[in-house]
Amino acid sequence: MKAWTREERYQPMEAVSPVTLEAMKEQVAESPYRQTFHIQPETGLLNDPNGLIYYDGEYYISHQWFPLGAVHGLKYWFNYRSRDLVHFEPHGAILKPDTEYDSHGVYSGSAFEYQGRLYYMYTGNHRDEDWSRTSSQLIAKMEDDGTLKKFPKPMVAGPPEGYTQHFRDPKVFQRGDTYYAILGAQTEDEAGRLLLYKSTDIVKWEFHGEVQTRLDAFGYMWECPDYFELDGHDVVMFCPQGIESDGERYRNIYQSGYLIGQFDIEQLELNHGDFLELDHGFDFYAPQTFTSEDGERILIGWMGLPDTAYPTDKDDWAHCLTVPRSLHIEDGKLKQRPIANLQKLRTNEETALGYANKFNRKLQPYEGKQYELIIDILENEATELYFELRASKTQSTLITYNTRTQKLTLDRSESGPLPEPVDGTTRSTVLDTPLQQLQIFVDTSSIEIFCNDGERVLTSRIFPDSEATGIKASTESGQVYLKFTKYDLEENA
Ligand code: FRU
Repeated sequence: MKAWTREERYQPMEAVSPVTLEAMKEQVAESPYRQTFHIQPETGLLNDPNGLIYYDGEYYISHQWFPLGAVHGLKYWFNYRSRDLVHFEPHGAILKPDTEYDSHGVYSGSAFEYQGRLYYMYTGNHRDEDWSRTSSQLIAKMEDDGTLKKFPKPMVAGPPEGYTQHFRDPKVFQRGDTYYAILGAQTEDEAGRLLLYKSTDIVKWEFHGEVQTRLDAFGYMWECPDYFELDGHDVVMFCPQGIESDGERYRNIYQSGYLIGQFDIEQLELNHGDFLELDHGFDFYAPQTFTSEDGERILIGWMGLPDTAYPTDKDDWAHCLTVPRSLHIEDGKLKQRPIANLQKLRTNEETALGYANKFNRKLQPYEGKQYELIIDILENEATELYFELRASKTQSTLITYNTRTQKLTLDRSESGPLPEPVDGTTRSTVLDTPLQQLQIFVDTSSIEIFCNDGERVLTSRIFPDSEATGIKASTESGQVYLKFTKYDLEENA
């Protein structure tokens, strides 16, 4: 694989001719792992979803983007617009690293509306000659013609005293007439923290303070925070780095989770329950939420992780976004469901009812590389259930459910090439209630598994061969009576 020099990683895309960029795009489109219904980069690397908002009749969805290769280099924001969150129109790079404050990357941030106009607040990443970092928080306003005009000076020029330059990812929210920005930060003694800034005119931002939680020693940096009210609760999300794995918890390189509680913004006190992970799969990070046209809270995540090499790197692209999920709190628990509009992508429907037992059963006529599959467990006498997807003679992506322990496991050891470094080939979660339903979205190189109507989600990239299309069900012993509903999905990517 090509070793990238710093100069190459920080080369602006404007230095490359449009003809070359077009040729790269055509070449990337040939990759056998291209997705069909997920947002993915035209070329290069995608990471965090940014600036998500429903504004003036349309959704605006951007993502972190390094256009020139599958590495974390000079970041732009690539933007899509959408009317329904399932069909997307590309609008290219809308925020570029073209000022002294964001010269080394237009980093993550959020969108907000002020006096009827769309604004973005984001982190400008600047490096000096010694490569030491300055992080400032910047604002850009969308003009009538859809272009963005950056405010000339940073709104927040650097971190408050006692914090390092790991100070980023402002998520703006409103309480009455006051705008707040919650930011990811690191103390000088290397503890992850969340900071709040506030403003009434979006020009003067005042440091409000550090959010007080019970998580004093919980990683060295917290990034990509979010805050929102949901069904009578306050929810704070963030991505802590530096957490040791603990059994089945915190298995990925960095974590992404949430706290449910009550947030006294004036006093900066957050009374909260345990930190819980948003996703139990291999590839999920840096999610952001926003409100839909109907006022629902929607989440989109990055289906990837930092500091990890992916099998598509050699095809000069990496990563995609997750399908949008709607969020609710029911009986004190967070539920994440695929948004209802995803049903618009359904084309052909096939259903089958049948028993599965220890003889591995291939489900006919089912097979495919891109589909939505709903498995209802109608009667179950089995000890362990096995569902294999993207299966061939040599490959299979295996979901195992143990009826005694209620543990659900995703095994990608035979799913094809793996992201590296490989830290185990299984991820598990213990469900709160016995497994009744799986709703699974399979795309060319990913799987998103929603268990029991939003109780748990496991999101992962998989890289099986194109011949691996089988769908199978079996048990360890005993039989299970299942209903399968499979939908082909319209290509929208
Ligand atoms: C998370 C992150 C953010 C940062 C961005 C840079 O993946 O590290 O904290 O703003 O990526 O691309």
